[in-house]
Order: sequence, then C-alpha cells, then structure tokens
Amino acid sequence: MSLTVVIQVDRDRPHPSDIARAADCLRRGGLVAFPTETVYGLGVHALDAEAVQKLFYAKGRPANDPLIVHVAEFAGIAPLVTAMPDAAATLAARFWPGPLTLVLPRSRAVPPAVTAGLDTVAVRIPAHPVAQALLTAARIPIAAPSANLFSRPSPTRAAHVLEDLNGRIDMVVDAGATDVGVESTVLDLTVSPPLVLRPGAITLEALESVLPVVRIASPSDHAAMRSPGLLPKHYAPRAAMTLFQGDPGAARNAMALLARDAIAAGQRVGVLATAGDARALEGLQVVIAELGPDEDAEGAAAKLYAALRELDTAQVDVILARDAPGDEGLWRALGDRLRRASAAIVVVD
Ligand code: TXA
Ligand code: MG
Repeated sequence: MSLTVVIQVDRDRPHPSDIARAADCLRRGGLVAFPTETVYGLGVHALDAEAVQKLFYAKGRPANDPLIVHVAEFAGIAPLVTAMPDAAATLAARFWPGPLTLVLPRSRAVPPAVTAGLDTVAVRIPAHPVAQALLTAARIPIAAPSANLFSRPSPTRAAHVLEDLNGRIDMVVDAGATDVGVESTVLDLTVSPPLVLRPGAITLEALESVLPVVRIASPSDHAAMRSPGLLPKHYAPRAAMTLFQGDPGAARNAMALLARDAIAAGQRVGVLATAGDARALEGLQVVIAELGPDEDAEGAAAKLYAALRELDTAQVDVILARDAPGDEGLWRALGDRLRRASAAIVVVD
C-alpha cells in the first residue's frame, strides 16, 4: 500500500457520499481510520479474517492482543455473542452508544483472529456521529483498535494517525479532535462479579450506579494477562518518564530538583504539566506539554496523548510528570495511562 486517502468531514453532519466511500472501502476489506468519542480507531471488516490479518500487520500489533468489535446498534451484538447476560442489557440501556466496551462469550461468527483465539469477544457501540454514520452505512461489524502503531500513544487527531500509519492504511476519515481523549472502559461480563479490565471513559462510579458489585483488575490479575493491552508497559514514550506521587507542592519541588540536575547534566527535559506544574517550573529550560488546569480531569484526558506525542517529537531525553491526584471519576483512567507510560515512580510527602 502506498497512498492513504484523507477524507475531511464535518463532525456532526458528515457528507453521506464521504461516509459511503469509507464504508465501501471497509466492506471490501480495506483499512479505514475513523474518529470515535474516545480516540481514533483503525477499522476493518470484523468478519473478514484476511483483512483482520492485514490490520495486525499495518499496526505492528502482536497477534495475541484481541480487538474490540464496533456495531451501530444493540441488535448488531446478538450475532457476535452466544449469551447476553442481564447486566449487558442494563449497561447498554444506560451507556450505549458510548465509551463502554463489554466482554461477552464469542459466537463462531467472529473469526478467532479478531479475539486472539479467546472464547470471548469485546463489543462496543460508539457514540461519535461519524462512527455511527460509518457503522450504519457499512452494515457490518467493524473491528477497530486505536489507530496508532503498536507502542505509540493512541491518536486523538487525524494527524496522529498519519504520523504513524500514512502509507500503511487505505483511508483516514478526519473529523477533528476526538471528545474524551482516553479509551473506552473495558468491562468483562463473563466473570462474576463484572471485572473492569481497563479503566476508561465510563467511570467506576457510573458503573457502580447500575451494577451491585464491580471489581477492578489489578495488573497481576489473570484476567489482565488475557488482555495484553492491559500489561503494565503498554505505551512508553521514547524518553524515560518519571512519575511523581504525593503532595502536589512537594512533588513540584522534587520535579524542579530533578529537572535542574538533568539540565546540568546536559539533558533535554520534557514535562507533562498542569498549569500549576508549569508555574512551579517557570524559569527552568524545560519543554512543557500542557495538560490544562490542575483540577480538570476531562481537560487533561483530552490533551494527554497529544502532549505525549509532542514530547516524543521534541526528542526530550527525560520526561517528568505528576500522577493523577486521586482515583475519582476520569482521574482513575488518567492515572492508569500515566503509570503505564512511566519508567519510574517517585513518592514524595
Ligand atoms: O476507546 C476504545 O476502546 C478505542 C476505540 C477505537 O474504540 N479502541 C481501543 O482498542 O482502545 P485497543 O485495541 O487499543 O484496546 C482494546 C483493549 C485491549 O486492552 C485488549 O486487550 C482488550 O481491549 N480486549 C479486546 N478484546 C478482549 C477480550 N475478548 N477479552 C479481554 N480483553 C479484550
Ligand atoms: Mg490501543
């Protein structure tokens, strides 16, 4: 493959002929990146095993990492699964379309390549108007991992997709930045109680508002091992990232100290910084990638992956960042991604 076609569409009212073109490409086994409310996905006909192989190759993704299958509406799930637990219907009514992925028992309609040979399948109904339009026009289930090269941050803009995959995929549907910025929550309903395999855009608090008990997978969990996207080292920036935990003031002092030492040693220092972090480091020769106001988890989530790409591009030698201030709401997903991306953790008090 050599030419990746970029189709620009309006986020809320994509032109039907543009959507038809992308849908047609998918139906024929092509690879099409498209926006969802979380991150850009790299779509492929989920029932076309050969096309699915092509996708793993284009991403450089290990074959043991299963894909999420996306459909336009609830009726589209039934052919993909062998059972629909009551909890699935409850969660669907509350959170779909939206950034929740459910792991259910896989039907034989889904090629083993999609699920990495597992007897379960992850399914999701995305809310983004362009994803909805595409799924509706294609009338097929679409398997879509995040549209990045393996070991790069998930893309939140079409430009990120092209950075990684230009010339390796057929098409990118560009509708501007995605909304949430971190991936969907992956919830395993094949175990009891339901198990959060990946914290994400639907918060634990939201899940707990409709389910009596929810468990969260720890990195050592067997369940997490079955879901390689959950392995501790998922995406890591080129530069070693040090994450600071604890009191914000003390963490900022420690960051400034480390930054000074690194600069003195001739290193280029990058900082993933909230507004408060940036102020505390003023006057130091560091490359700042901004996450926005200190208390704004939604804002930080929307900026996180772009900021990490920015620091990779700036070719810094080390990255300093502060961990999420807690586990409430979207902070849980943010903290999870930060810890996976970091090489070392410093606890201050
Ligand atoms: O927000 C999202 O979920 C985005 C958009 C494009 O929908 N997709 C995404 O896909 O993040 P990906 O492939 O980057 O991450 C999928 C995660 C991985 O951690 C994978 O291991 C897990 O879902 N997963 C997929 N199928 C699974 C299964 N059958 N059992 C357990 N985990 C599964
Ligand atoms: Mg991914």
